[in-house]
Amino acid sequence: MNWTKEQRYRPLNSESQAEYEALCEQAKNGKWRQKFHIQPPAGLLNDPNGFCWHDGRFHLFYQWFPLGAIHGLKYWHHLTSKNLVDFQSLGIGIAPDTIEDSHGAYSGSALSQGKNLLIAYTGNHRTAHWERIPYQRTAILTDGVLTKNPPFLSGAPKGYTEHTRDPKIWQESDGAFGMVLGAQRENKTGTVLYLKNIDGLNWDLKGEINLGDLNAGYMVECPDYFSLKNNGHQTNAKHETECPDYFSLKNNGHQTNNQYEYLFNENKSEALDVLFFCPQGLDNYPNIFQCGYVMGHFDKSALTFKHSGFQELDYGFEYYAVQTCLTENNERIAIGWFGLPDMSCPSASEGWAHCLTLPRMISLENGQLYQRPIPALEALRTNEHNGVHYELILNNPDNEPFEFNLRVNDKERTVLTYNGSALIFNRLESGLLPEPEIEVAPNKCTHIRELSIKNIHKIQLFSDTSSLEIFINDGQYVMSGRIYPQSLANGIKYEIAPSASLQIYGLKETL
Ligand code: FRU
Repeated sequence: MNWTKEQRYRPLNSESQAEYEALCEQAKNGKWRQKFHIQPPAGLLNDPNGFCWHDGRFHLFYQWFPLGAIHGLKYWHHLTSKNLVDFQSLGIGIAPDTIEDSHGAYSGSALSQGKNLLIAYTGNHRTAHWERIPYQRTAILTDGVLTKNPPFLSGAPKGYTEHTRDPKIWQESDGAFGMVLGAQRENKTGTVLYLKNIDGLNWDLKGEINLGDLNAGYMVECPDYFSLKNNGHQTNAKHETECPDYFSLKNNGHQTNNQYEYLFNENKSEALDVLFFCPQGLDNYPNIFQCGYVMGHFDKSALTFKHSGFQELDYGFEYYAVQTCLTENNERIAIGWFGLPDMSCPSASEGWAHCLTLPRMISLENGQLYQRPIPALEALRTNEHNGVHYELILNNPDNEPFEFNLRVNDKERTVLTYNGSALIFNRLESGLLPEPEIEVAPNKCTHIRELSIKNIHKIQLFSDTSSLEIFINDGQYVMSGRIYPQSLANGIKYEIAPSASLQIYGLKETL
């Protein structure tokens, strides 16, 4: 279908209930529907938004165009959960129903304030000449009633373009509120802005965060800032001696882990500051767009962020717009969009596109960032598995090579190979493949990713109908990828060393 502008910017209520239900029915019957990932009932899902703990439960929203598997008029879809495994959908969280968000209630974040949920987001407005005007605004959700406030920043701030968006808010220990905002400078380079205030409503733009000579591409989307305490969890000796290698990754080559150790050693028992963000337009990375982080020390008065280089958060094929939340136990959990901008999604033929990733627990261990699947996911385990929906755990104590052919049928397979120096995730023969929707350099859309790594003692892999998420060495690295087998692909073949052991659990449906 060729979508016209009018069709893409249609509000949900322009369709009858029956028509919308027909779209949901079509999506529900799709062969690529996930069983334990958050996905849209119909239409397109992108960024996670407003992820927070409030009112005795988690709140999580996502960017949503309900009327087609295409980027159109964006709503926030609202979900709640006690455990981040079982979710309840509350439907529309924010509708684009004012002038300031007439062309989309774009990404943002939320913070619990007593009985109120304080939301900050970007209203996307287009003029009759299709010029974009971003409005940064807050809204308050109280007892299910949303009140939108007037924008605190209208249009592009001086020196920046209309690509200024995605406020992420937090509260400092002194009660003040902080915010980071993705931006593009007038010279078409990316940066992150820092704002501050004392009442959560009016925001003072302090300026941009000086990230040194870091190349943040031509624009930055979806920043998130937090600080992370060293949790004292000791990784084993093997790791420590091999640490420096772990950060010298293929196709990246920017930094080694030595610099992290340096920053960390300066302040051993303290926390490190972390900035997650999506810089668009980086050359030396394999996917069309990246989502990653810098880690170091953020001096909020001087507006400098001393860090040791940009690292990807996921070494697979699609991971974007990650957002974190602090739990009531002060744990940091991250959820990402399991998709990328400007890439096609094979399930569009079923009337839906994309899902969110599984929640990951973020920690700092000996100066390294770790991302583990949240422990609550263990509640999904069953003894029987069907070859499609499962969790596979490989213990590989002697660091032996291995190979897995997963999601296999007579024509298709996804291959994971460890050869002692690299882990290779190959989805070339997995089924239908996402493809770029814009012209990109050939190296910008690969379906084979190779992670340089010299020690793998554990793999924990989650297979859902159309995705694989691979956690390496208890979260030291993650590789995620969507896969679209065209017929039932439930074969599992593998070669592992005698000293290695394998466990496979079935996983229950959650949605
Ligand atoms: C990232 C993004 C955000 C924007 C939103 C719109 O995927 O482009 O920058 O707020 O999606 O849906």
